[in-house]
Amino acid sequence: MMKTCMKKHSFKPGRHAWLVTIAAVLLYGGTVAAADLSVCIDKSSPIAAVDARLAHAVARHEGVMLRIHVFDGSGDDEGFALKEFNKLTHNSCSLVLGFPVDTDSHNVPPGLLATSPYGHTGFVLVTPRSSKASTLAQLPNDSDVAVTYLTTPNLYFADHPNVQADVHLTEISALSALEKHRVSAAMLWQPTVIRYLASRHETARFSYHELDEPHARFNLVALYDSDHAAAAAMFQRTIVTMSDSGELAQLLAPYAQAGEARPFRRGAAAMLRRSNSSNRNGHSCSARKSAHKRKALPALFTVAQADNGKQKYKENCAMCHGPALEGRAGPALTGANFASPQSKFSVSDIFAILTQNMPSTAPASLGHVDYVEIMAFMLQQNGYPAGKKALSYDEAMRSKVPLVYREH
Ligand code: HEC
Repeated sequence: MMKTCMKKHSFKPGRHAWLVTIAAVLLYGGTVAAADLSVCIDKSSPIAAVDARLAHAVARHEGVMLRIHVFDGSGDDEGFALKEFNKLTHNSCSLVLGFPVDTDSHNVPPGLLATSPYGHTGFVLVTPRSSKASTLAQLPNDSDVAVTYLTTPNLYFADHPNVQADVHLTEISALSALEKHRVSAAMLWQPTVIRYLASRHETARFSYHELDEPHARFNLVALYDSDHAAAAAMFQRTIVTMSDSGELAQLLAPYAQAGEARPFRRGAAAMLRRSNSSNRNGHSCSARKSAHKRKALPALFTVAQADNGKQKYKENCAMCHGPALEGRAGPALTGANFASPQSKFSVSDIFAILTQNMPSTAPASLGHVDYVEIMAFMLQQNGYPAGKKALSYDEAMRSKVPLVYREH
């Protein structure tokens, strides 16, 4: 128990800690000039291969030589040697890739800086594909859920009396209990799950779901020290380019998603989502039904409004939510993860967030017309049709039309 609590605050979420035991240097291209990129990659991480691909892509974009320093970040139960990171950034490389930062605590090793997130991942609920549950609360009473010793998901059972822990020493053992139907689900580190399932050609048999629990979501960042600010700036610049072109998402898939994870239950949107799910069941059913039956969606805005909104979105929102609304420093504003039937958003819910909280750096700073046109553009990007009648500010504020993403 003592150890579990301690691990809650660990910097690396898995059972292994970041203790550097072996270091090997792979040299790409001889002598390293000042402009070259040198990165450290943890070979014990399930996303080590992804980090290496990412490093190569960044070097290619920038036209610089790449040097990869491989270290072994797996430790023992004694924990993690954070000072090893300072050594790495001091002696071996300018950037340590693939460092997971808990979105609820934002911890990075003392003395080091972090780039802005380039991807996100976390602990997921893995279930057989046939299971209807996508959250802990939806699992039937008395369900056994596999977890690994000393990892954060051990803490989630306290809030969910319907499930009980089946604690394993290794991830492999937890996954094999799931494969053999000895447990109903497992809560594990997503990249490990993906790698395991892929290696056994079992991907099709299981689903995994993001856990809406504290300390379950992590952003992937590169660590650096203040001497390497230039390398960090180069890395960040290239990440933005690669994110715009879709290259980043491709590189990270299926081990992680591009962009930044949403913080756990923070901010107006998350609060809304929670209160909606407890209070408005009627509404949620109709939202779900319309998504499934593909009932015709109402035309709420005109093409001209959406066109104007596109430009205004670009000027005021794209820097945080991505040029294609795919999410960046702010969450995605289109797609199944934004407007899913489960999130039970109505047009007025979203419009209230827009007008009261956005842009987050200058809330409520735009004019009524601007917000309405941006809303029209967002509806369009979520699959809603344009029509003859323009959307007004008051209508947007009142509209109970469910906002459910539909492919278009
Ligand atoms: C400086 C960065 C930034 C800018 C600029 C910005 N946003 Fe946001 N936005 C965020 C962040 C961060 C969140 C998540 C807030 C939270 O819930 O904690 C967010 C949340 C949202 C949400 C709620 C989404 C959800 O699923 O929770 C909407 C809708 C939204 N923004 C729309 C906009 C629009 C439209 C604009 C332009 C007028 C805009 N934002 C500009 C950072 C930004």
